This record gives sequence, structure tokens and C-alpha cells, in this order.
Amino acid sequence: MKVIGINSSPRKNANTQTLVEAVLRGAAQKGAETRLVNLRELTIHGCLGCEGRKKQLGHCVQKDDLSPLLRDLTGYDAIVLGTPVYWFHVNAQFKMLVDRLYSFLESGADPETGEEIFRFHFPSGKKFVLAVSRGDVEPASMLPQFYDHLNEWLNVIPLSLGAASIEFIHHYGAEINRKAAKNDAGLIEKAERVGAGL
Ligand SMILES: Cc1cc2nc3c(=O)[nH]c(=O)nc-3n(C[C@H](O)[C@H](O)[C@H](O)COP(=O)(O)O)c2cc1C
Repeated sequence: MKVIGINSSPRKNANTQTLVEAVLRGAAQKGAETRLVNLRELTIHGCLGCEGRKKQLGHCVQKDDLSPLLRDLTGYDAIVLGTPVYWFHVNAQFKMLVDRLYSFLESGADPETGEEIFRFHFPSGKKFVLAVSRGDVEPASMLPQFYDHLNEWLNVIPLSLGAASIEFIHHYGAEINRKAAKNDAGLIEKAERVGAGL
């Protein structure tokens, strides 16, 4: 079992990284081979919308650190994606990763109907874990509908990639305290348990 964890928080050793690491630790304790990637350590760019995917599926044309990482993802059995909540959504670094997954999108005419159909040319059956840290408490003190939308939207990633399972680890009430997740023993235990279950 190979498990990769990707942390999009720009803050070193902060909440999102803590959660992703706890999932990886739980998996490693059960014998999995694990790898942590901190997007802050990579040079990454946003999707160009160039449709280069049509020339070679799964090979983003950009020459940055995200292109090889995207290709690497296909070789893992489980993918742990971690993001802090910024402005009621994922942060920009996380969205760059998601947008660049577009390089796996295959489109073509349905042989029977002639209609254009889309599917992701990405190996199905992987297990996904989404770790999300936010400042606000639960229930949210303001605009809860936007968090509901975020949580719904996050499912689109694993569902599009043919996931075998999807699990969430939500961290609430961090405010701006980067050690909040580390101080929540129950949450860390839950993250490790999810990792062990992979
Ligand atoms: C630019 C920015 C926007 C934020 N927006 C929100 C928000 O909309 N809702 C929320 O609950 N927390 C918000 N936060 C707080 C972070 O989600 C919270 O501190 C989180 O724990 C950060 O994760 P990290 O410690 O892994 O960096 C925001 C923080 C920043 C820096």
C-alpha cells in the first residue's frame, strides 16, 4: 500500500500539515509506504487552460514541480489532500493542484450518440482522505451555507477520479493558532485511525 499526503498550507508544521501527517502516520503504522508533499516547498503555477491534455493525456505541459507530482499521483493507492479554509473555500495552492488535474480529462464523441463525453483518464479505485482546517467553529458563526457548499464541492475531486472511498477529517475552531490541531488529541487519534484504515 502506497499513500501520498499533500498539504497545501503555506504555514510550516501548522494545522493542515498536522492532520495530513497524522493520517500518514496511521497508515505507516499498518505497514504502508508514505510520502508527504508540502506544496509550499514546490514551484507551482495555475492551469493555463491551454487544452494541452488533448495532445497527451495526464501530461500537463507546464514545466514546474506540479506536473511530475500529478503523474506520480497515479501510482498511489491512497491520496490524502489537505487544505486550510481561505475565504470559505480551499486555498489558492490547493486549487492550483485541483485545476491541474484537468490534464487527465479525456473528451471525445460517444460512438453511439455522437455527443461529446468527458471522463478522467486516471486509475480508478483509489482511496481518498480530505483534511480541512478552518478558523471558525462548528456550527459556523457566520455564513454556514458557504461551508456546506465547500464540503459538497470537495467531493467532486475524488468522485471525478473514480475514488473507491472518500473520508473527511474536519478541524474546526483553529482561529489563527497553528498548533490548534496538535493540541486536539481526539482529532489526531481520529486522523491516525483513518490512516490505519486505508
Ligand atoms: C487568507 C485567509 C483566509 C481565511 N479564511 C477563513 C474562512 O473563510 N473561514 C475560516 O473558518 N477560517 C479562515 N481562515 C483561517 C484558517 O482557515 C485557519 O487558521 C486554518 O487553521 C489554517 O490552516 P493552517 O494552520 O494549516 O495554515 C483564513 C485564514 C487566512 C490566512
